[in-house]
Amino acid sequence: ESTLGAAAAQSGRYFGAAVPAGRLSESAYTTILNREFNMITAENEMKMDATEPSQNQFNFSRGDQIANWAIQNGKQVRGHTLAWHAQQPGWMQGMEGSALRNALLNHITQVATHYRGKIHSWDVVNEAFADGGSGGRRDSNLQRTGNDWIEAAFRAARAADPGAKLCYNDYNTDGINAKSTGIYNMVRDFKARGVPIDCVGFQSHLGTSLSSDYQANLQRFADLGVDVQITELDVEQGNNQANIYAAVTRACLAVSRCNGITVWGVRDDTSWRTDNPLLFDRSGNKKPAYHAVLDTLNGV
Ligand code: G3I
Repeated sequence: ESTLGAAAAQSGRYFGAAVPAGRLSESAYTTILNREFNMITAENEMKMDATEPSQNQFNFSRGDQIANWAIQNGKQVRGHTLAWHAQQPGWMQGMEGSALRNALLNHITQVATHYRGKIHSWDVVNEAFADGGSGGRRDSNLQRTGNDWIEAAFRAARAADPGAKLCYNDYNTDGINAKSTGIYNMVRDFKARGVPIDCVGFQSHLGTSLSSDYQANLQRFADLGVDVQITELDVEQGNNQANIYAAVTRACLAVSRCNGITVWGVRDDTSWRTDNPLLFDRSGNKKPAYHAVLDTLNGV
């Protein structure tokens, strides 16, 4: 197949991209987006600050713009993200305790209900585990409402949209380490107690190397009985960039429960990073990394 999405579909997988609503009016951008990708994530427009700018006042206009474009163009949608310590609206940032717990569960319920039936997978909770080797939770106002906040979030999401896959999403989990093992232990506990969770997202914001146990890490989560998804892939520009993109693609193809890969942007000039980490250059040309991914998806 000659496009990323079609090549991924050969093995029942998707190939997606994160999209800022503002780029949907740019024909050069949407030409590539529509041709190459079959899964869309709103880069910022479905986050907590965007969707509930004032308490109990919801604004879905920008998120709808992206979801509607996707659906009109035959794409599926990943929802990002219902609960996160970052990008909270101002009114939520100062909240603590039961008031915050109630506001969080209301947020999840309202947003997941609004998008019910349109979302392939939700990042229900994003980045709740700490860096630095403890394997424990990150401190945040959400964590301070009680350790059960993640379970409560997943239960609220399932009640609001039983049709969406419910994912836990995080970064620096691109191999077997304290952080990914902390998450692994949570997922194992959730599965043992019947807490609704369907997938784990691995953001995979990568530098110039890839851990040799990248695939083994994905496989151990799949062995718990959840799907795995590469949710925000981008790789530092360098002479290893194409090889790393190919290795991540190979790992997803090797793990049967890997649903697909999403790159965190289409073109280098639209990236949150400045080190040209994507598959298309600043002029929209295919980079060696693009060809490495396509060849890997085609089994070359
Ligand atoms: O929309 C405002 C605009 O009105 C204002 O003029 C401008 C300048 O202040 O800021 C704009 O908001 C920015 C927003 O992106 C939209 O462009 C925020 O400042 C900026 O912080 C925000 O950055 C996003 C970042 O998440 C915030 O945490 C990046 O675009 C986005 O790529 C990045 O994505 C995250 C994932 O959600 C979670 N995983 C990590 C990943 C990379 O950080």
